[in-house]
Amino acid sequence: MSNLKQHGDQTYDGMARFLHWLIFVLIVAQFVVGWVMPDVHRDTQPQGLIAWHLGIGATLIAAIALRIVWRVTHRPPPHNLPPLLAVLSRGTHFLLYAALVAVPLLGWANASSRSWAVKLLGVLPLPALAPANSAFGHAAGDIHGVLAWALLALIGMHFAAALFHQFVLKDRVLNRMRP
Ligand code: HEM
Ligand code: HEM
Repeated sequence: MSNLKQHGDQTYDGMARFLHWLIFVLIVAQFVVGWVMPDVHRDTQPQGLIAWHLGIGATLIAAIALRIVWRVTHRPPPHNLPPLLAVLSRGTHFLLYAALVAVPLLGWANASSRSWAVKLLGVLPLPALAPANSAFGHAAGDIHGVLAWALLALIGMHFAAALFHQFVLKDRVLNRMRP
């Protein structure tokens, strides 16, 4: 247990922590907007909250891409978790990254199939990911909605793990990702 208590003395680097919490805030906003915005139909225009969903989405795509490049080029601080927790933690983190890639890409493909422009910071247009009116782009929209729930479930598990570390194991894991 004493080993576990030391776990958390070292933190992720500043950039990794900044991107983790930036993406957290954007994803919370993206879920709220995704649920509150009007249903999207064949002749829906990308206005109002839908435009916000595309705008926040483009920022998320850029932030997640940067985060993955950063993660591949910068090692996390060493951990000393027991093997079972280490495997669970690595597995959940990997699935979180997979969902962080898949969910936005599918939303982007759906926007492209509707010929909606996806612009980074409102200026830089991102290329179309799917042809206009394509069956793939249409299906991508449905899978986007379903996988958003899977992402939410993973975030819930991740949050539960954070609480478990803080209040049951009483180690300093949260300190590793402190804002
Ligand atoms: C992690 C990031 C994202 C989350 C959590 C998210 C979440 C959601 C949610 C909850 C919905 C409503 C689904 C439904 O009611 O069935 C939705 C719909 C949609 N999202 Fe996202 N979204 C994300 C990223 C993006 C991105 C990056 C884009 C495009 C650039 C995008 C484009 C869309 C579109 C076009 C729809 C309507 C799809 C349809 O109903 O056919 N989303 N999103
Ligand atoms: C949108 C929500 C969130 C997403 C997508 C997310 C994603 C991730 C990912 C992918 C990692 C792995 C970092 C790596 O090694 O590359 C991570 C680590 C971490 N996250 Fe989150 N996270 C979210 C919310 C939260 C929340 C709400 C908390 C705390 C209450 C939290 C606390 C942590 C901590 C402490 C770590 C470091 C774990 C370790 O030391 O191994 N995260 N997060």
